[in-house]
Amino acid sequence: MIIAANFKTNKTRVQTRVYLESLNAFMKELNTANTAMVFPPLTALDSFELESNVKVGAQNAFSVENGAFTGEVGLEQLEEFAVQTILIGHSERRHILGESQEEIANKFNFFKEQGFEIVYCIGEPLEVRQEGNEALVEYIDAQLEGIDLSYEKLVVAYEPVWAIGTGKVATVHDIELVLSNLKTKISAPILYGGSVKVANIKEILEIASCDGALVGGASLDVEAFKQMIEIAKDT
Ligand code: PGA
Repeated sequence: MIIAANFKTNKTRVQTRVYLESLNAFMKELNTANTAMVFPPLTALDSFELESNVKVGAQNAFSVENGAFTGEVGLEQLEEFAVQTILIGHSERRHILGESQEEIANKFNFFKEQGFEIVYCIGEPLEVRQEGNEALVEYIDAQLEGIDLSYEKLVVAYEPVWAIGTGKVATVHDIELVLSNLKTKISAPILYGGSVKVANIKEILEIASCDGALVGGASLDVEAFKQMIEIAKDT
C-alpha cells in the first residue's frame, strides 16, 4: 500500500525536514512493505537521507528541463534533489489554477519520458456526482484522456472534489463503485483521497480495490500520519 501526504501550501523548509526525520525514524522501526510518500511545497525540497520506502515528491512542476518560464520549476530543479516522484492533475490545480486536461497530459508525458513515478489525480465535482453514475464515469474518463494507463510507474489517486478538505468523505459504497470501475481499465495502484484521517482510514483501506490513501489536511501532523501508516500495516 501507499500512504501519501500532500502538504499543499503548508509547512516551511525547516518544518518539512523535522517532519521527514520523524517519519523516517518511524518507518525504519515499523518494518513494513508499505510506502510512505510526502509531497512538500517546492521550496522545502532538499536532499534527504531516507529509507527506501519513504519517498519525497513534487506537488507540481512545469514540463520543461529549464528555460524562460517565470515562476515555474522544471526538471533541472527537481533533479538537484533527486526527486523522482510527482503529483499531476490534482483538483486544486485543475480547478483553482485552471490547468486543462491537455496541459495535464503534456505534463504526464514529459515526466513519463523522464521515468518519474507519477501520482495522477482524478475526481469529480459534486454536481457531476449528483447527475448519477453514467455522468461520473464519463467525467472521469475525460480526465484519463491522453494518459498512458499502462505506464509502469503510474499511481492513480481518486479524489472526489467535494470530499477534499471538506470533512465529507465519500461512503465506502461510493468509493468502491468508482474504484472497481477504474480497476477494469487500470492495473496501476489506486489510492483514495478526500478527508482521509486516522478515524476513517481503516475502512477506506479495507475496500478491495483500494491500494492506499492520499492525505491532505490530516497528514500535516506527523503523529497522525504515522498512526495512519500503522493502521495501513495491519489492514
Ligand atoms: P484532504 O486533501 O485530505 O485535506 O481532503 C486531500 C488531497 O487534496 O489530496
